[in-house]
Amino acid sequence: MEKTFLMVKPDGVQRNVIGEIVSRFERKGFQLAGAKLMSIPAELAEQHYGEHKERPFFGELVEFITSGPVFAMVWQGENVIATARQMMGATNPKDAAPGTIRGDFGLTVGKNIIHGSDSPESAVREIGLFFKEEELVEYTKLM
Ligand code: CMP
Repeated sequence: MEKTFLMVKPDGVQRNVIGEIVSRFERKGFQLAGAKLMSIPAELAEQHYGEHKERPFFGELVEFITSGPVFAMVWQGENVIATARQMMGATNPKDAAPGTIRGDFGLTVGKNIIHGSDSPESAVREIGLFFKEEELVEYTKLM
């Protein structure tokens, strides 16, 4: 079963949209396989955003993602990686279509409400960074 890593960023937690975001993925038909409210240590933030290390906004990115609690999640289902990205909308909320999460709740690229894995390789890497195997559940095949 395909899995992806999604995370409500500190701005989304402070705006009280965790429930709304979880609800959108539930209604779509995806299954929640793991979730936790947590503060990200700087070291984990640097690992998570490692591919952006040379970007001018790297420091800002790490500072923001460690500035308050995030809601980290693993979701599963058919084509969940690409579909979740569509449901999130464009990275910059000013380009994100209405009806998408960033289109509905975000204003700026730095504070864009939610993060989602962009490929199967990123999903495996990010799930492994944030969750231990025993923190993820299995659903019975009857469901
Ligand atoms: P995310 O999907 O979490 O992955 C990398 C993040 O970098 C992205 O969302 C944006 O929040 C952030 N980002 C991208 N471009 C910029 C920028 N120009 N300034 C600040 N943050 C940015």
